[in-house]
Amino acid sequence: MKKLLLSAAFSVAAVCSINAQDVQLTLHPNQAETVIPKEIYGQFAEHLGRCIYGGIWVGKDSNIPNVEGYRKDVFEALKALEVPVMRWPGGCFADEYHWMDGIGPQSQRPRMVNTNWGGTVEDNSFGTHEFLNLCEMLGCEPYISGNVGSGTVEEMAKWVEYMNSDTNSTMAELRRKNGREKPWNVKYFGVGNESWGCGGNMKIEYYVNLYKRYNTYARNYGSNRLFRIASGANAGDTHWMDVAMRECRNNMDGISVHFYAVRDWGTEDDPVTGIPMGKKGSALNYTDQQYYEVVSKSLEIEDIIRKHCAVMDKYDPKKRVAIMFDEWGTWYNVEPGTNPGWLYQQNTMRDAVIAASSLDIFHKYTDRVKMANIAQVVNVLQSMILTNEKNPSDPCVLTPTYHIFRMYNAHKEGKFVPGELTCEKIRVNDREQVPVVSQSASVKDGVITLSLSNLDVAKTHTVAVSIDGLKKANILSAEILTAKDVHAYNDFGHANDVQPQAFKDYKAKKDGTLTVTIPAHSVITLQVK
Ligand code: AHR
Repeated sequence: MKKLLLSAAFSVAAVCSINAQDVQLTLHPNQAETVIPKEIYGQFAEHLGRCIYGGIWVGKDSNIPNVEGYRKDVFEALKALEVPVMRWPGGCFADEYHWMDGIGPQSQRPRMVNTNWGGTVEDNSFGTHEFLNLCEMLGCEPYISGNVGSGTVEEMAKWVEYMNSDTNSTMAELRRKNGREKPWNVKYFGVGNESWGCGGNMKIEYYVNLYKRYNTYARNYGSNRLFRIASGANAGDTHWMDVAMRECRNNMDGISVHFYAVRDWGTEDDPVTGIPMGKKGSALNYTDQQYYEVVSKSLEIEDIIRKHCAVMDKYDPKKRVAIMFDEWGTWYNVEPGTNPGWLYQQNTMRDAVIAASSLDIFHKYTDRVKMANIAQVVNVLQSMILTNEKNPSDPCVLTPTYHIFRMYNAHKEGKFVPGELTCEKIRVNDREQVPVVSQSASVKDGVITLSLSNLDVAKTHTVAVSIDGLKKANILSAEILTAKDVHAYNDFGHANDVQPQAFKDYKAKKDGTLTVTIPAHSVITLQVK
């Protein structure tokens, strides 16, 4: 009986019918003002499962091809992605990480138990030098998360000095002894992670004092200015944001917000198929209903941004303090047979449309949202890249999410183009609806980059686009990420099932409008002049 009620309550239904050009989009490039910071395309690398070890780092002596100990294929894929910023070493791990364990000769570094993530023994062979040198080689900004939960003020102060001081202080000399002459001039620095949870289970009223204390001693060195980031709210916790802004707004440059698209289905079997779903559902096997449930959850991020912006505007109307979405993405059950503490999950077209529509949302709010770091870069949650646990020498696999990030690169540092989209919505349950199309556009050097995602799992939609001031749309390039089956994914042995392809299903009409026909669960990026 319960199952019957569930299926009735959660049946997916279109709110209105479809016609030939059922979606209308009007874009106003002449109103473009805010630049989309490239840091919206940030990554997150934690000592969790096989993200660092086996993912990024194999060590110089490994028989897996490597560049200075970094897995060569992963390194090259990240380089090609033009990663702007990478956050490290956590996550929850950051608040039990003692940086001095990760410097000096690798063979002499102490071992610790990674109590957050599967009780794995951490040999600290990847530490400050290994991370900061990687960022330098990739040409990306490092973002360090400092330990407030179990570390001391002195420890944090000395870490900043070690990384950034060019004096002859003991910390700077220690860095030189360990092989690095010049400071790295780290800019982004987080004071704790999820201090409301794994970072110390604090109330915000307590954390604000700790923030000020730890932050005071994290000094600026030379001309380098730290961009100071407070540990922020869990999703829509506006009380946390309110107190943090009230007490610390003059001491911080940014505050993090974490949001995961995760559904908790309890231990119920799937109401339609009867398949046991586990708590968070499967990354690969899902019904249309479950597809919409997770897509709908991911879109909640917009409401969360709006709520936090309203609180921040009260204290900071000039928008000096930034929101840093330094953890976001999908979160499912781990793949069967893998360590439950390692959060290894697969990645399908569902994740691709979620990545695209989330980036579309971030683009809209870049007057306040200045950075976002998808969780996580390799082998953990909604990864860009996967490596094979059983056969580590297999070439790495690029996920559909990787391809979206690559396709969206053209938006980086373009000006956000406002627009109005009219489309039908799919009813997901008694509270939620999913619009069939998500879009965003930006303009750079006179070229408009337009991304369109069809979130409808089953139907093609045609978008009629009109762009103010454009007499005839001249398409410079067009790419699509699609697959017949929404469950399509890339894996070892079939690494190219989901690949960007040239896209041709558009028409530029004489009256200046452009019609674009998008297959179900697909993402398109066009460049128009
Ligand atoms: O990304 C996985 C974990 O999710 C992070 O360590 C933590 O900050 C969050 O709860």
